[in-house]
Amino acid sequence: MCILESERLILRPPRPLDIQSMTVWLSDYDVARMTSRVPHPYSEGDAEAFLALGAEHRFVIQRKRDGLFLGMTGFHAEDGYEFGYWLGKPFWGQGFATEAAHRLVGYAFQALGIETVHAGWFYDNPASGHVLAKLGARHNGSQMRDCRARGKPVLCHDMLLTRADFLRKQAA
Ligand SMILES: CC(C)(COP(=O)(O)OP(=O)(O)OC[C@H]1O[C@@H](n2cnc3c(N)ncnc32)[C@H](O)[C@@H]1OP(=O)(O)O)[C@@H](O)C(=O)NCCC(=O)NCCS
Repeated sequence: MCILESERLILRPPRPLDIQSMTVWLSDYDVARMTSRVPHPYSEGDAEAFLALGAEHRFVIQRKRDGLFLGMTGFHAEDGYEFGYWLGKPFWGQGFATEAAHRLVGYAFQALGIETVHAGWFYDNPASGHVLAKLGARHNGSQMRDCRARGKPVLCHDMLLTRADFLRKQAA
């Protein structure tokens, strides 16, 4: 079991007890509509089904000081290493996504030896675009991508992050 730590966060594998928190925060349309795969409305059954897939590199973002569930992050190996993240709305705007994504991709580059990861952000989600730019990711094309919550394709900007760019950004 892999547990990652950063200054304010613990990234740990999800467990069945997380289903309630996932359902509460992912039921928020403002969260779901910025992701490609989260349906709306969202039920405990959706959370159960997601956890049953049992992917290897998925993490709950937990606040270190009180153990609070803030959101989730992770990546999957199909189609290159695509990573993603989401936080419950009360936890936006405090740098948690940047901190969690930074720790996740650092793990991918350093511990797993991956050279390149990528992530997409919908055109109307500049905060996510900003998180990715802060990591050192570069725009690598745009295309329409299905968004389950909106029930239609949405313009999505793909961002590529290489190990070299990530290290360069850290050193800057
Ligand atoms: C996108 C999301 C993960 C950001 O989380 P967060 O913890 O608030 O992000 P951070 O605080 O680490 O960083 C956000 C950055 O975007 C900036 N930002 C916020 N709103 C912005 C806007 N409208 N335009 C441009 N930049 C914006 C912030 O100022 C911050 O940059 P700074 O640290 O340089 O000031 C969060 O809003 C979320 O979970 N949204 C719903 C799900 C989602 O969008 N997931 C990502 C799918 S690609």
